[in-house]
Amino acid sequence: MAIVPNPHKTTGIMGWIDDRFPATKLWKDHLTEYYAPKNFNFWYYFGSLALLVLVNQLITGIWLAMHYKPDAKLAFDSVEYIMRDVPWGNILRYMHSTGASAFFLVVYLHMFRGLLYGSHKKPRELIWIFGCLIYLVLMAEGFCGYVLPWGQMSYWGANVIFNLFGTIPFIGPDLVIWIQGDYIPSDATLSRLFSLHVVFLPFALVGLVVAHLIALHEVGSNNPDGVDIKKFKDPVTHIPLDGIGFHPYYTVKDIVGVCVFLILFVAVICFAPDGGGYLLEKPNFQEANPLVTPEHIAPAWYFGAFYAMLRATPSMFSSALPGVIVMFGAVLILFLLPWLDKNPVKSIRYKGTLTKVTTMVFAADFVMLNYVGLQPPTALFTLLSQIGTIYYFAYFIGLMFFHKFEKSKPVPERVTS
Ligand code: HEM
Repeated sequence: MAIVPNPHKTTGIMGWIDDRFPATKLWKDHLTEYYAPKNFNFWYYFGSLALLVLVNQLITGIWLAMHYKPDAKLAFDSVEYIMRDVPWGNILRYMHSTGASAFFLVVYLHMFRGLLYGSHKKPRELIWIFGCLIYLVLMAEGFCGYVLPWGQMSYWGANVIFNLFGTIPFIGPDLVIWIQGDYIPSDATLSRLFSLHVVFLPFALVGLVVAHLIALHEVGSNNPDGVDIKKFKDPVTHIPLDGIGFHPYYTVKDIVGVCVFLILFVAVICFAPDGGGYLLEKPNFQEANPLVTPEHIAPAWYFGAFYAMLRATPSMFSSALPGVIVMFGAVLILFLLPWLDKNPVKSIRYKGTLTKVTTMVFAADFVMLNYVGLQPPTALFTLLSQIGTIYYFAYFIGLMFFHKFEKSKPVPERVTS
């Protein structure tokens, strides 16, 4: 029997590698021959930017960990040492602290894109679920990192969060002591948060991102029209007619996004590294003091919405448990989105007015909650957070019904631009 030569077989050093490791196959399957819809727009920058920020956090984190001391007596001073004495240390620290905020900003925009174009809907439910898990781990990572400089806000923020566990009936108080490793946040607490922040959570994050991308490449990317490009393929090559190779087309497009992002990122690091107290809070420039409570304890800006929901919920039998349930419920409801959203139309472009308006109000509501969560709990801000919290949940429930009360536009068969 004649042996037919494989036209795709690589030769030379690549051939040697490919016989032992599928390098060329991976390159083709995930880059040059991964056919993405040709109508990606602005909203599609944020996935690759999230990857960029993840890499930034990992690299700057490794270098910070070389100089940081996870000891309640030394932590604060070691951060000052990084800022003043370690060559380029201040830049490294600001890259990491600004990177944390950039991470949340980019991920929020990335999630909103999913909501806009129905990327959470069948067959992409698992991409969305992995995304939600990433978001949960990211929140844990952000919290642990925030405590490490052992400043006033680190300490008292940790105190507030740990005490939330104390609201769980029966086991709560013992659970808090078990988690903290002490009766108050202390050296034992700092060591375990450091270990989680630099080992377990980054591993979990990277693993989940890999799973997220494997799931994405299994089903293929959605697009701003929400149409399935695999329906129309070239009869000979079987390549989707509306698809283009991710590399070079989208790698080049993403480089544009990366350049714009880096200009803004570097501008913040150089000119406003503390972001006016929003990226690095003022009380955190003072060392942790368990005997002095800061005048106003507020979380990092990216947790503002959830903190607002916690404070908005009235306590019951002088327990904050209802607030804790509402706050965690606000994150957990995201996992249910693929099943709550019953609209047969995917993309917001072709949905009716009711969904369009409620989705825009939802975005404004989330921004408002984030702002209100950072303000002192005055009567006005409490009222706003209560209205905002009710709207947040009502929107998700409403997604089951909105389409029944509105007229959708006809969805095109193929991408429109
Ligand atoms: C470390 C954080 C994350 C990274 C690095 C990441 C990375 C990516 C990348 C590179 C893509 C493909 C490019 C694109 O569509 O923009 C993508 C797609 C997607 N991501 Fe993420 N992601 C992250 C977090 C999340 C989160 C938190 C969610 C939602 C809860 C999410 C939901 C999705 C969905 C639904 C898609 C498919 C979008 C579509 O095809 O239209 N991702 N992600």
